[in-house]
Amino acid sequence: MGHRAPEATRVARLASLIALALALSFLAQGPMPNAHAHEGRPDLGPKDTPPESSAPATPLAELDHPTRGHEPPEGDATVVTPTHPYPPEGVPRPLAWLGRFHPPTVNFPIAMLTAAALSELLLMRTGRELFFHATRFSVWVGSVAALAAATLGWFFAGFRLADEEWLMTTHRWLGTSASAWALLVLFLCERAVRTAERKTFRLALFSGAALVTTTGFFGGALLYGLDHYAW
Ligand code: HEM
Repeated sequence: MGHRAPEATRVARLASLIALALALSFLAQGPMPNAHAHEGRPDLGPKDTPPESSAPATPLAELDHPTRGHEPPEGDATVVTPTHPYPPEGVPRPLAWLGRFHPPTVNFPIAMLTAAALSELLLMRTGRELFFHATRFSVWVGSVAALAAATLGWFFAGFRLADEEWLMTTHRWLGTSASAWALLVLFLCERAVRTAERKTFRLALFSGAALVTTTGFFGGALLYGLDHYAW
């Protein structure tokens, strides 16, 4: 494959910029507005408390897309109570604070590794150089982001091997494995650039994308319940 055609390089750069812009827009969204309650959070001041609304809160069951799997907390029915304490036992406060960036960070590995898998499929189908570069860029961003997300996850959840809830333990170890796997994918990707042998890389990439997406599913299930996608 010739990788030096200037026009293809320009298109690849454009695709990379679009991918970066998309990724930044994900970050700008931040966590879901109903993801974290202040209940049981004496460290939060009045400015952190949602303003009192004169209108009665709509019960979850009556919302178009109710959040399932959790009892609606009293007071603000649109809020889901986090399943872990803050700061987690044994985590120094600065690290626990950094851990709060876990929810916005997790969008990157999920989106970028999925995009890498899609781009690789398109490369296999079309052979276009554009997708060669798009895959490499997405793998780099996705893998580094997976490492960051998992590290922040440990700060967020606390340093322990098992949790009271099996769902949390599952998410913890799926996420840790996913970030280690993503680093392997990055290594294989760079090796594939040099040797042009992409079979092992492809296997690792497709399974890595599935692993990180499954991790995301279990992360969401911690907050919204396992039956969140029930029809
Ligand atoms: C690539 C790795 C990971 C991904 C993609 C991921 C993904 C997610 C997602 C999508 C959520 C739900 C966020 C929301 O809806 O606001 C979440 C929550 C969470 N994750 Fe992860 N995660 C990863 C690794 C980890 C690890 C390694 C740990 C712990 C060691 C962890 C601990 C947590 C905790 C504590 C929550 C919030 C639960 C709650 O507030 O009740 N995550 N994660």
